[in-house]
Amino acid sequence: MLWLLLLSLKVPLGLDAHIPTPPDNPLRPETIQLGRKLFFDTRLSKDNSISCATCHDPKRAFTDQHPRAIGVNNQHGPRRSPRILNRAWGRRFFWDGRSPTLEDQVLQPIANPIEMALPLDEALKKLNEVDDYKPIDQTKLAQALASYVRTILAGNSPYDQYLAGNKTALTTQQQKGLQLFRTKANCISCHLGPNLTDEDLHQTNGETPFKTPSLRQVAQAAPYFHDGSAPTLEAVIDHYNKGEAADPEIQPLKLTSEEKQALVEFLKSLTGDIIEGNQ
Ligand code: HEC
Ligand code: HEC
Repeated sequence: MLWLLLLSLKVPLGLDAHIPTPPDNPLRPETIQLGRKLFFDTRLSKDNSISCATCHDPKRAFTDQHPRAIGVNNQHGPRRSPRILNRAWGRRFFWDGRSPTLEDQVLQPIANPIEMALPLDEALKKLNEVDDYKPIDQTKLAQALASYVRTILAGNSPYDQYLAGNKTALTTQQQKGLQLFRTKANCISCHLGPNLTDEDLHQTNGETPFKTPSLRQVAQAAPYFHDGSAPTLEAVIDHYNKGEAADPEIQPLKLTSEEKQALVEFLKSLTGDIIEGNQ
């Protein structure tokens, strides 16, 4: 049974074949499907106006277009909705890493008064009135949402194809950008591995440390940074080029305009396929 299930999980090119899960919540088709239903269900918000997918929209690489998230009653939060891609490999969650597991993280937006604003006991009462969901308790809700989030996978980009040996998958300019990413521009010291992140905290922008985001599908997801302060990839590169940040890995880069453009073009090569729900 277990090995049949493992065989049925598709993982796009470029990612580890093994999707990590906690021992008490292995990926099971029925849990994933329940989580998927919940993720798109506006019942999880106080006034039935928004679902997880309102802020983490599959058509926008699982984020939205707003510099900072907008919750029920048009309330503006302090931070941008991150792309939730390949989060099975996350080690800490939220921009500041304050949540230790996905099972812990996924319940927080429901109760958060400026996001979905539905206290958990009320959410459970509401869901237990729906035939499709009942009976459901807090553990089942958390495990289902976390399982679905673990199946949201992004890979098979031109970058992955290039690393797999297809030397024409990247343009000459993108190859130059990759070279800069790994050397002069020093991006690789934080954006590394299959997800282009060390999943660690750094002070690169502002006073408090934020977690290095994955760069997968980044070209699909402006504006950038935890506060949406960079409107374009060009603005992101300009920010790094100035080198004004507390982290010692951030130094002025002295990039030429051709080099900046090559980095931008390389970042565009990180857009590939997104699959979700083990469909
Ligand atoms: C109102 C918009 C909004 C809604 C609705 C929302 N989120 Fe989020 N989500 C955010 C924001 C903003 C953050 C980052 C918050 C922070 O860092 O303080 C976030 C962070 C996350 C993260 C952490 C990603 C990481 O790598 O750190 C996950 C996972 C996530 N949300 C899943 C969900 C799920 C599941 C739901 C539904 C139960 C949901 N979100 C509902 C805006 C939203
Ligand atoms: C010291 C670690 C570090 C280095 C070096 C670094 N980054 Fe980052 N990167 C981060 C962190 C942390 C954030 C989140 C900052 C924030 O949101 O305020 C980030 C955010 C980004 C974003 C925005 C992603 C999003 O979803 O909003 C892009 C794009 C990016 N980095 C590209 C690069 C490039 C290109 C380089 C090299 C020029 C680079 N980074 C160098 C740590 C680093």
